[in-house]
Amino acid sequence: MRKPKIKIVDFNPNYLNSVKVILTENFEYPWSELQILSENRFTIKKVVLSGGKVLGFFSGEIIFSEGSITMIALKKEFQGKGIGRYLLDWFVSLSKERGVNNIWLEVSKRNKKAIRFYENYGFITEDIRPSYYKDGSDALIMRYPIDP
Ligand SMILES: CC(C)(COP(=O)(O)OP(=O)(O)OC[C@H]1O[C@@H](n2cnc3c(N)ncnc32)[C@H](O)[C@@H]1OP(=O)(O)O)[C@@H](O)C(=O)NCCC(=O)NCCS
Repeated sequence: MRKPKIKIVDFNPNYLNSVKVILTENFEYPWSELQILSENRFTIKKVVLSGGKVLGFFSGEIIFSEGSITMIALKKEFQGKGIGRYLLDWFVSLSKERGVNNIWLEVSKRNKKAIRFYENYGFITEDIRPSYYKDGSDALIMRYPIDP
């Protein structure tokens, strides 16, 4: 199947249950409702929609010159179709508009698929936080430098 016709829209609590399902199918320790809903003035939360159906969830922040991605997750059946790359492209262009220098993220060293995805996009591993996650795995700290 090719990439479905999709749009990126603001998250709101009506999407909470769909997002919970997506996170539960992807993670052993999924985010709590509180984590999904929490926001501050820097938070950017989006869902990917196709024909009213929620295919994915994005959470990030832009704090002055630094951006970060705190979550990207797609429904399993819609992974590997270019939607993740599309979300990164969208967040990179938003970050450029806002004058961001770097986009940062943390990913479990055990999540080989996501690491390949980010490396493939141009993220560089800058550091490792040992035993960072609940399952005891290390976190890779990755950075995507935005061209001036
Ligand atoms: C990681 C994730 C967001 C990637 O999104 P995706 O839509 O599946 O990835 P895409 O189809 O956009 O792939 C983008 C690129 O990464 C590559 N890629 C994706 N998955 C890959 C894999 N398993 N192995 C190697 N390369 C992979 C693709 O080849 C593609 O490269 P190309 O554009 O040059 O062809 C998605 O798979 C996901 O939701 N995973 C589960 C949740 C998760 O682990 N999130 C990250 C937490 S930090």
